[in-house]
Order: sequence, then structure tokens, then C-alpha cells
Amino acid sequence: MAEVPETMDAQVIREHGDPDVFEHAELDVPEVDANEVLVEVAATSVNPVDTKIRSGFASDLCPDFPAVLHGDLAGEVVQVGDGVEDFEVGDEVYGCPGGLAGTTGALAEYAAADAATLAHKPDSLSMREAAALPLVTITAWDGLVTRADVSPGESVLVHGGTGGVGHVGVQLASLEGGVVHATASTEEKRDLARDLGADHAFDYHRDVDDYVAEYTDGEGFDVVFDTVGAGADNIGTDFAAAGVKGRVVTTVSRGEADLNPVHSKGLSFDTVFMLLPLIHDDHAGRLRHGEILARVATLVDEGDVTPHLDDTDYGFEEAAEAHRRLEAGEHVGKVTVRVKD
Ligand SMILES: NC(=O)c1ccc[n+]([C@@H]2O[C@H](COP(=O)([O-])OP(=O)(O)OC[C@H]3O[C@@H](n4cnc5c(N)ncnc54)[C@H](OP(=O)(O)O)[C@@H]3O)[C@@H](O)[C@H]2O)c1
Repeated sequence: MAEVPETMDAQVIREHGDPDVFEHAELDVPEVDANEVLVEVAATSVNPVDTKIRSGFASDLCPDFPAVLHGDLAGEVVQVGDGVEDFEVGDEVYGCPGGLAGTTGALAEYAAADAATLAHKPDSLSMREAAALPLVTITAWDGLVTRADVSPGESVLVHGGTGGVGHVGVQLASLEGGVVHATASTEEKRDLARDLGADHAFDYHRDVDDYVAEYTDGEGFDVVFDTVGAGADNIGTDFAAAGVKGRVVTTVSRGEADLNPVHSKGLSFDTVFMLLPLIHDDHAGRLRHGEILARVATLVDEGDVTPHLDDTDYGFEEAAEAHRRLEAGEHVGKVTVRVKD
């Protein structure tokens, strides 16, 4: 076990802006508080919230400058704080512990992480593959397992079935026994959605009445999971796709929407915001994140959940390129960044 140095390399931002604001910095290695571990980061992945924090759209979530961004990480535990019982030095872990105000991020050689948010990395995955999963998996689990509580035989529509959240959502909904319908913009992506377990895949540009007629005999879906990120703009379509007493869950609900269908169809309508336990220092919520990731690690090692990595492979100095790729919408699945070669 190599000794932990006093300083580390990091990719930081000192102002908000386009991806060029990333710059190299040498920072002190974070101190480990009680109930935390120090992780030597091997890989991280990019989530839209990271690009929103970088650009300033979500500046309220940004750590102090020079800011180390990114929540998702996979790596090895190199120090253990007081009170940590579940991890020891040398353990390989994955999780989404920070990258937000008041936490340390994963775009650095070392990150201090609340042990509650972590789980042992699935044995069958590389560090890059493991780093792709935490944030999107917790979100998809919250949406489809906890909130919508998909039951066997129910019809489930996952909008954005090959995106970060959606591609895990398709797999979880299928594992819960749902009849899964995924939307994606190209035939190649729709093939991927079918490979991941979708029973049906179609283009989201189609008219909603048209696909509701084709796949549900006009009755509407039991569950609609919206991972589009279009906020209120897509919620009218979600409500139109849901059947009477359907459950609609979205990952973004900013904006205004007509709630009449919630009344006329007796819908339930829910929003997932997985960062809440991190923002509010909610220990029980953080423990739940760790528990979800532990359960998912088993599912991964049993071959039931697989991360799909975008066809790119960025090194530590290429964080800006990774952000550009995600923001351009050219990715399929998850964009990852290797921190340690
Ligand atoms: N609240 C939370 O806790 C939470 C957690 C995670 C993510 N999010 C938010 O959720 C959104 C998605 O995150 P992500 O990581 O999955 O992003 P992503 O990887 O960029 O995926 C977005 C997906 O949306 C699809 N899409 C775009 N327009 C669509 C439309 N009109 N109808 C159906 N699908 C459409 C895209 O499909 P094509 O590629 O085929 O166009 C893509 O698969 C982001 O806004 C993110 O900030 C929120």
C-alpha cells in the first residue's frame, strides 16, 4: 500500500463557464473526518448535473473555488476515519459521495467520502464501468422501484431508454417484471434498449396517441418514467401516455405544467432528486444510497444489470472533452473519465 501524499493532482474550476474552464491544480489531499474514508479515485463519470454546476446553471450546488466537481467515483480505500465499520484499507468501492457544496469531488486523485454513501464495487466490473453506475442507478431505483413500485406484468414506459438514467431504468423495470417500453431517437439505440431488456422500443418523436394505441390498446401505460431532463416541457406527454391511475415519475420537473390530467385520470406524479441526502446531510438517505448500491452490486455480479459505456475513453486531463461530449448529446450510455491509469 503506497503512502498517502500530502498533495494531489486535480482538475478544478475557478469560475463557471464552458468546458474550457477546467484547469489542472495541485491541492492538499482532503482530510478524513469521522465516518468518512479516503478513496484513491480510479475513475469517475459525467452526469448532466456536473455540467450544470460547471456552467453555472446550478451554481448553488457548486463547491467553493477552486472547485473539484463530479459525484460518481470508483476507487480504492486508502484511509479509514473513526467510526467506519463497513470498509477497510484496500477495499474497492463505488458511490456518489460528493462533487457538491460542502463535499470533495471525484475529479482528483483522492476524495474524502461519507462511508454511508459507498458500497463495495461489483467484482465483475472494471473501475470505469463501476464509476458509470452510482448516480444514475440510485435515480432509476428511486424512480422505478421505490416510487413507481413496478409490479410484474405492468406496462412501463421509460423515456430516454439509452441515456444514463434510462439505460439502468430499462434493466431495473425489466427485473421487476414490467413489460418495458423504451424510447430512443435512432434504430441503433433502440436495438441497445432491446438488448438491455426492453420488450419494445420506439422513437419518441412519434405521436403519443399513436404509440399508446399500438402498445396499450389505447389504455395508457401503468408507469411512465421520464428521464428526458426537459422539465415541464415533456410532462404533458407523460400524462397523455399514462393510463387511468397510472404513476408518472420524472427526474426533472422545473417549469409549469397543466395538472388537469392528474385529476381527470387519477394519476400519481412524483419527482426524484437523488442529490437531496447529500445536499441536506441526511444520514438515513445516504445510508439508503449505499444500500441500493450494495444490492445493485449483487445484481451486476449475477449478470442482471450492466452499465453501458459510451464509445469514448477519456483520461484525467480530458475532463473538458468529456463534458463537451455529454453536452453535445452525442453519447450513448455513460461518459467516463479515467483518473488513475
Ligand atoms: N433529479 C435527479 O435526481 C436526477 C438524477 C439523474 C439525472 N437527472 C436529470 O435527468 C436528465 C437525464 O439524465 P441522464 O444522465 O440520463 O442524461 P442523458 O444520458 O443525456 O440521457 C438523456 C436521454 O433523454 C433522451 N431524450 C431526449 N429528448 C427526448 C424526448 N423528447 N423524449 C424522450 N427521450 C428523450 C435522449 O435520447 P436520445 O439520445 O435518443 O436523443 C437520452 O437518452 C438530466 O436532465 C439530468 O440532469 C436528474
